[in-house]
Amino acid sequence: MSNASWELGFHLRSPRGWLNDPNGACQFRGEYYLYYQYNDSWPKADQKAWGLFVSPDLVHWRYEGMPIEPSIPEDRHGVYSGCTLVEHGAGPNGADVLRAFYTGNVVCLDQAHNPRDVGRVYTGREAHEITCASADGKHFGEKTVLLRTQDYPWECSLHVRDPKVWRQDGRLYMLLGARHLCNHGMCLLYVSNDGWNWEFAHLIEAAYPFGYMWECPNIVQLADGSEYLAFSPQGLPRQRDRWHNVCQAGYIPLPGRIVDTREVDERDFVEWDHGHDFYAPQTFVDDSGRWILVGWLGSFDHRWTCTPDGLAWCHCLTVPRLLRKDPATGLLLQTPVPELDVLRGEEVPLAVNEEARIASRHADIVVQGIDGDGALTFDQSLQVFFEHGRLGIRYLQATHAAGRDERSVPLDCLRDVRVLVDGSAVEVYANDGAQVFSSRWFSGEGTSLAVHTSFAAREAHAWPMEDVLSEMYATAQAPSITLPGWNA
Ligand code: FRU
Repeated sequence: MSNASWELGFHLRSPRGWLNDPNGACQFRGEYYLYYQYNDSWPKADQKAWGLFVSPDLVHWRYEGMPIEPSIPEDRHGVYSGCTLVEHGAGPNGADVLRAFYTGNVVCLDQAHNPRDVGRVYTGREAHEITCASADGKHFGEKTVLLRTQDYPWECSLHVRDPKVWRQDGRLYMLLGARHLCNHGMCLLYVSNDGWNWEFAHLIEAAYPFGYMWECPNIVQLADGSEYLAFSPQGLPRQRDRWHNVCQAGYIPLPGRIVDTREVDERDFVEWDHGHDFYAPQTFVDDSGRWILVGWLGSFDHRWTCTPDGLAWCHCLTVPRLLRKDPATGLLLQTPVPELDVLRGEEVPLAVNEEARIASRHADIVVQGIDGDGALTFDQSLQVFFEHGRLGIRYLQATHAAGRDERSVPLDCLRDVRVLVDGSAVEVYANDGAQVFSSRWFSGEGTSLAVHTSFAAREAHAWPMEDVLSEMYATAQAPSITLPGWNA
């Protein structure tokens, strides 16, 4: 069996090997820079570096290798997640400089590690916050360790990571995700005047324990003053309508500013996405002031696989999503950035209860003005449904799910739905992006896609999408990682 029908045409994946979190998303010197957690020796050693894609328009991307790899004792077992900060005019002749902040991961199994401490929560791990700078985003200079394991407040276990740094009111702030000694997730807030010396400000905790670890903290600060604290909590128990993945990702709308927040109300936590394959998103603001989110369209969940037929790559990223505030709820709406519309080819008529065939595995389907229950069905295999007050996705053929189950959330009324199908990556956006599902789907062979809608709707559209990435994947030369001191 060929897995060509699973190939991606407009979603980013590593050219070879493993990808997880997006890192350092930003606009720099007019182009979009998107780094990511990359292990190109997968499925062997779990050694992370930062891979890089660059784009002029969030649609066409170039693979630019692995600009940050383990190279100092403090990051010898992984260049973990982090962010970038554009330093305007800080380079020679007033050029902009890109500064990266990330966590250097060190495994110390040879030292005083208690083997019963399986997660290396209290022994056997170091986490250092490290910075390095670049004139072009591709070549980084000397690494400086800003914070070491022993520098974190006494409340912290050894799980501290994923710096998010931003500038506000003339100062720099850094959020770190952390696990309290007493086993609950939290953030650390640091502040700095110069980017080199960082002073601990305070913890940000939930009123009641909410998961055992918060990874990948992020921020959204809208022009109207609304602020949102985003993070990816581990250890939330699965409940009927929420927290179905092994780890979750979401945000809490704040009554005030992030930098003044010490306690959040965990009951306000909103999941970004209800699909099987979504975690550790990053947010950034681009030069035109838009807040954009990119997520890992993947997960660490062992209940399902992302390589059912031995693909040479594992996982991908979501398309960039524009974040807007829903005036009715104050929550965030997510929609694919409008730039992606340029990939739409000639429209294929889509009529209710008639099967349409798109001559491509890459497609964009939009149904608007929906009245009542119905479903969109792809290849008689994957269904996006709205029934009895629930919106969800289901797999009609178990082998195409590679272990995934049905997912749904309660919803009063479905007004519109948009589905991006890109080989084996599927993103569903409903009600103008108020509800989102991202999952993988491993349908059978074929070069076309059958689409059937049973929704009574004002309008329905289907477009093939241009494949703008497969050539890059075919030609990208993924370098191999050098593993200084690797002792696993
Ligand atoms: C989240 C995460 C981060 C860490 C990175 C390592 O998926 O666990 O907390 O920095 O992945 O790859």
